[in-house]
Amino acid sequence: MRKNFMKYLRAKDFFNKIAKFYDILMQDMDYKEWAYYIDEIIKKKGKVLDLGCGTGNISKILKEKNYNIFGLDIAINMLKIAKKKGLKNIVNASFYKIPFKSESFDIVISIFDSLNNVKDLNEMKEVFSEIYRVLKIDGIFTFDLNTIYAFKSYWNNLIRVEERSNIFVIWEGSYISPNSCILKITIFQKLKNRLYKKHNFEILEVGFHIDSIIQLLKSLNFRDIIVFEHLSFRKASEKNYRVQFVAKK
Ligand SMILES: C[S@@+](CC[C@H](N)C(=O)[O-])C[C@H]1O[C@@H](n2cnc3c(N)ncnc32)[C@H](O)[C@@H]1O
Repeated sequence: MRKNFMKYLRAKDFFNKIAKFYDILMQDMDYKEWAYYIDEIIKKKGKVLDLGCGTGNISKILKEKNYNIFGLDIAINMLKIAKKKGLKNIVNASFYKIPFKSESFDIVISIFDSLNNVKDLNEMKEVFSEIYRVLKIDGIFTFDLNTIYAFKSYWNNLIRVEERSNIFVIWEGSYISPNSCILKITIFQKLKNRLYKKHNFEILEVGFHIDSIIQLLKSLNFRDIIVFEHLSFRKASEKNYRVQFVAKK
């Protein structure tokens, strides 16, 4: 199991390969609403680091809202697309080792499951420590996580088939006890002459209990920690599908 677990954790390979389809897969996603929500949480303009910025969908909107945006992602192919959207300050790096000086950002964000790619609390501690380091005093860190409940009750045994522009997509999810989920995506890409090319992608996401994340943030001296049900300002519960954390340095 351990070996398989490691195999699924290759987020870099997964996102590099799926990059060319990513924005088609996400075309129904309301990134404007999402960016509006983040803007409401942050409430102050400043220098923002978007960790796991991917193809830059949130960064682009926040940039238009006059934030000074820097993006970081481990998958270079995702960043190439972000660059085409006019994002200039982007770096190809891992959030385990953030290549910026201490206390250089007013805000750090991580959107849309990026931190569900972290394997366990020990690794999350490494990531949070890096975030703490690059934040200025009073800086804000906000991020979302898919919950274990979402893996068990939404993703488990899920099969969804969709047709989008030039692809057919099959989404399959399986909950892996106690806290993870394997997501398989099969894409049939329409070629000329009625031919299709098949692509398979697989990734493992890891869920965390809300309290364990709060305790971890506290242990690293983050303060004023609040957790919302995603896209709302209601108090989060373990029975939400996605939750949004906000903390201050
Ligand atoms: C689901 S995508 C979200 C992308 C973007 N935030 C969005 O809202 O569309 C997760 C992103 O996290 C990135 N990622 C995963 N592990 C990472 C790591 N260790 N360091 C930096 N980025 C990582 C992936 O490459 C991918 O672009």
